[in-house]
Amino acid sequence: MIIAANLKTNLTRKQTTEYLNTLEGLIQTSKSTQEVLVFPATSSLIPHAGHIIVGAQNAYPAVNGAFTGEIGAEHLAEFGITTILIGHSERRHVLGESQEELVKKFNFYKELGFKIVYCVGEPLSLREAGEEAMMEYIDAQYEGIDLSYENLIIAYEPVWAIGTGLTPTLQDIEELHAKLKEKCSAPLLYGGSVKVANAKEVMALKSVDGVLVGGAALNVNDFNAMINIAQELEKK
Ligand code: 13P
Repeated sequence: MIIAANLKTNLTRKQTTEYLNTLEGLIQTSKSTQEVLVFPATSSLIPHAGHIIVGAQNAYPAVNGAFTGEIGAEHLAEFGITTILIGHSERRHVLGESQEELVKKFNFYKELGFKIVYCVGEPLSLREAGEEAMMEYIDAQYEGIDLSYENLIIAYEPVWAIGTGLTPTLQDIEELHAKLKEKCSAPLLYGGSVKVANAKEVMALKSVDGVLVGGAALNVNDFNAMINIAQELEKK
């Protein structure tokens, strides 16, 4: 399974270094074979060798240039980063990134062979608007994205479940994931208020290939506990 931590705008470089070192130690002890991804804040990126794959939460679709406040591919290369998160709901809804911009980012980093975790998910108003409107909204987030890209991972994160403690029912997750699996055979993660207490039931769902964890991943022991839960589930 794929267990990913989106650290968002948390943990300084010093804290992130400690986090990664602690987690590497825990993984070494547990001998976990799960795929573990950690996305630190941009200024906390560090070169990292080990079991954990460190990825970028965002970058501009250019090697370098006049894009004030952004970083480009050459800045990621400095840290050996070849994994990126694209389309996170906070980038879509808080930072206002359009589907067109996300497609540009996707294509640029795809050309460079990056592992891309591409996020989709609906706001509450769309969920409440009914199945058809909700699926139309989610379908639009797939527009322009090469779903056959071999280094693609999809993360379904309902916007209303992010950081709220709310989650869809297990049946809702399973049904929606089954639909998304029909569109694309890439590994499919669930994200939105995943924590130690619910990680097992979510990851046990047939169409869930892993989780993308925000708040609950900030505690390295909790994140490690979720990695261990994935390992246990795979043994069965
Ligand atoms: P929370 O786990 O804090 O709900 O965040 C989910 C998320 O946005 C991961 O990308």
